Parts: sequence; structure tokens; C-alpha cells
Amino acid sequence: MAIRHFLTLLDLSPDELRYLIQRAISIKNGLKTHGPTYTPFANRTLAMIFEKSSTRTRVSFETAMAQFGGHALFLSSRDTQLGRGEPIGDTARVLSEMVDAVMIRTFSHQGLEQFASASSVPVINALTDDYHPCQLLADVMTWTELRGSVKDRTAVWIGDGNNMCHSWINAARQFDFRLRICCPEGYEPRQDILDAAGDRVSIVRDPHAAVADADLITTDVWASMGQEEEQAKREADFAGLQVTEALLDHAREDALFLHCLPAHRGEEISETLLDDPRAVVWQEAGNRLHAQKALIEFLLLGHVDS
Ligand code: CP
Ligand code: NVA
Repeated sequence: MAIRHFLTLLDLSPDELRYLIQRAISIKNGLKTHGPTYTPFANRTLAMIFEKSSTRTRVSFETAMAQFGGHALFLSSRDTQLGRGEPIGDTARVLSEMVDAVMIRTFSHQGLEQFASASSVPVINALTDDYHPCQLLADVMTWTELRGSVKDRTAVWIGDGNNMCHSWINAARQFDFRLRICCPEGYEPRQDILDAAGDRVSIVRDPHAAVADADLITTDVWASMGQEEEQAKREADFAGLQVTEALLDHAREDALFLHCLPAHRGEEISETLLDDPRAVVWQEAGNRLHAQKALIEFLLLGHVDS
């Protein structure tokens, strides 16, 4: 089987992505019914390179490998030769000699692509400055679990045109739903990513107009990792874009709210939004485990009958 990487949602076909979502739901149900008895990856190793902080991504990948009977190695750039300037390509070649797959959270998406092109084992994007595709697998899984097929539905992104927003745009393309993006002037997503999505994705500046009749609302922090020094300016620029219970009242009655987390209460969301029943963020966070299990399984074994 040719090596497959997962650097963005565009690396898998729409059919493959739909398969992954269903497979993730089936793996989750299997775990609930039988416990962690499905162990297809005994003695297999996933290397996890982290150049940025993480709670959910690290714990979900590490737990996924443990429950699959394998092992995950946490490698921080602080403690490896990567942090001392060993070339990315050399690191990719060395790890390819030893491990079965590599997961990377880093700043530069181009650096990730460089790593993947030198790797002879599958490489998974666990967040770059430009994309966070693993989060979208869990998000679409959660939406599907709770509301059925997402095709032709309407999601709304409120906030920064950041890595998460870019992955929502790619998800709209691949899963064929509409996406409205409500961001301040100057914080739009990248134009090429937007253009490639065609008329499925639109920018709507007014938050009330953006959420009208929407099926799903989502947001993210105003300052991402690496943008900490812009926090104060961003708080001013994003004023008026806080997602509140009252804003959700303008969406469909059965609308859901997602947030990749970590969340900043009192900034991009109201103090109490995560306590609202429309917010399904804990289920969403938990689904990182199941969605990434389906992803690892697909990259290493291809399609598996449920
Ligand atoms: N959503 C997400 O990726 O969380 P972490 O930064 O905690 O991994
Ligand atoms: N946009 C956020 C997502 C964190 C999971 C960041 O990059 O920091």
C-alpha cells in the first residue's frame, strides 16, 4: 500500500472521510460495549512530535495507541535534536527507520510538508499555524452522531480566520455543507483556501445574520498559540463577536455549539455558554480519541470492515 499522509482534510477523498467518520463511531461503540479489546497495533509505535503545547491531542493519540495495543512516544522539540537544529528531513528519515507513524504539532505547515516528503511512514498533522484537520474529524463525527448526515447543512464560524477556520473551510468542501464565516475586517481566512471552496463558503460580517437558521455554530480563541503578544489588540478587534446563549437563540432550535478547546470564557464565549445544553464540547473533545483511532487504523491498514 502506498504511504498516505494526513496533512489536511484534502489528503483523503470525500468517500474516505465519510468512511472514517462512520468507522470512528463504530470504534467508539465497540469500546463502550467490549472495552479496549480491539488491539490491531500490538508492538507498533507512533512518534508524537510537539513543538507547541497540547492537552487533548497528546492524550487522545497516546491513549489511542495504548488501547490499540501499541505505544506512543512523546517527543518535545526541547528535548530532541530537532530543537538543536537537526534538519527536519534527517529526523523524518531516522524516525521512518524505527516507528510506524509520526504525528506532528508544529508552527510551519511548510515544515510539516517537508517532514512528510522525507518520511516513509504516514505523517499526521496534529496542528500547524495553517490547519488542524484532526480536530475536524472529531467535530464532524460529533455533529454526525447528534444530527445525522452533515451534507447540505449550515455551519457558522465566528472569530479568527485561523488554522481551525481553514480546516472548517476544507471540511465544508469535503463533506459538502455550507459554512458562513463571521470575522472582523483584517482577520479573514487565507484567500486561496476560501476561493477553492467556491460558493459553499461565504463571509457574513454581522453575527446575527451569520447564525440565522444555522445548524451548528463554532468558534475558537482570538489569539492562537504563537500570537500571545497580540492578545490585547485582538480582544479589542474581536469585541462584539462573543458567542453567547442569546446569539445561539437566533440559530435553529436544534443548533449545536462546538469549540475545539481550550476556551477562554468571557472572551470568545460567554462565561456560561459551555453549560448550555446546545454546547457539546465535552463529547467533541472525547471524540478526538475515536476519530484519531479511525485515522491511524486507516493510514496503517486501509479500510476495515466494521
Ligand atoms: N483542541 C486541541 O487540539 O486541544 P489541545 O491543544 O489541548 O491538544
Ligand atoms: N487556533 C488554536 C487552536 C488550539 C487547539 C491555536 O492554534 O492555538
